[in-house]
Amino acid sequence: MRQISAPIISSEEVTSNTHLVWIDAAEIASSGQPGQFVTIYCENLLLRRPFSIHQVNSTQFAILFKVVGEGTTWLSRQREGDRIDVLGPLGAGFNITPSARNLLMVAGGIGLAPLIFLAQRALPRHAITLIHGASTSADLYPPSLLRPGSPGIPSHLFEEIRFIPVTEDGSAGEKGMSTSILPRFLNWADQIFACGPAAMYQAMARIPLPTQENKLKMETCQVSLETIMGCGIGACYGCTINTRKGTKRVCRDGPVFRMDDILWQEVKI
Ligand SMILES: Cc1cc2nc3c(=O)[nH]c(=O)nc-3n(C[C@H](O)[C@H](O)[C@H](O)COP(=O)(O)OP(=O)(O)OC[C@H]3O[C@@H](n4cnc5c(N)ncnc54)[C@H](O)[C@@H]3O)c2cc1C
Ligand code: FES
Repeated sequence: MRQISAPIISSEEVTSNTHLVWIDAAEIASSGQPGQFVTIYCENLLLRRPFSIHQVNSTQFAILFKVVGEGTTWLSRQREGDRIDVLGPLGAGFNITPSARNLLMVAGGIGLAPLIFLAQRALPRHAITLIHGASTSADLYPPSLLRPGSPGIPSHLFEEIRFIPVTEDGSAGEKGMSTSILPRFLNWADQIFACGPAAMYQAMARIPLPTQENKLKMETCQVSLETIMGCGIGACYGCTINTRKGTKRVCRDGPVFRMDDILWQEVKI
């Protein structure tokens, strides 16, 4: 874990309200693992704001974030060359089991952010199906970023991922929720990873599963939780949740947990 003042390499609004920011920080880019996050000091705010590592290249990493309040508004206004105070990498990320070959990734909205990094690391050894659910086409991962040769995107990345967009209003991809098409891929998947709002996980936990094998896959699905964080480093206990394995700090023991360890009534966001 390092705290550094790092320059912004590029900052782009990639869809309405969603920003992609590349940061020059070799220490974080080289040691960050998929599912881990950084915290960023946003001017005049007491609490640093957490963001998943979205992509890395040799010396830089990117975050992808939605503007929802004061901190993200400030961050979205920082420009190329501005320096920001970054702490990371933090937390415990996703784990691909050695025997897994087919990986199913399920993203709800901005929950796509850490899964792109996971896909980046998993290729080319694994086959990947990535379901991205959004309210409408404008909230889907922007097609411009899927172009081979886009900054930081290895050209093979999106050629090798089976990318399945789903929108609630049917304006792009299949109409519905990511959780409604997920069951189709359960037999194919060796392992499942998800990132999205708690309501998406709750819907996943309720999917009726016909076989014991599918039940086990869903129970062992790795989900990334978001809670309001105080310190982000395990010191303040502000992000504590009760799980089936006892009390856990989301920032330190997570943010990635096994689906069947979570007591959903404990997760507020
Ligand atoms: C481990 C982790 C990884 C995250 N990764 C990403 C990411 O990659 N991209 C992204 O867009 N967002 C991510 N978030 C959420 C992000 O941290 C919040 O959106 C951000 O802190 C809001 O700051 P703000 O000052 O703009 O909003 P605030 O003014 O603090 O709050 C505005 C609204 O956002 C909600 N909010 C505040 N903090 C959080 C939080 N930690 N989680 C969820 N909702 C929150 C508040 O309840 C409120 O409704 C992540 C959160 C965690 C815990
Ligand atoms: S945010 Fe302080 S312990 Fe997790």
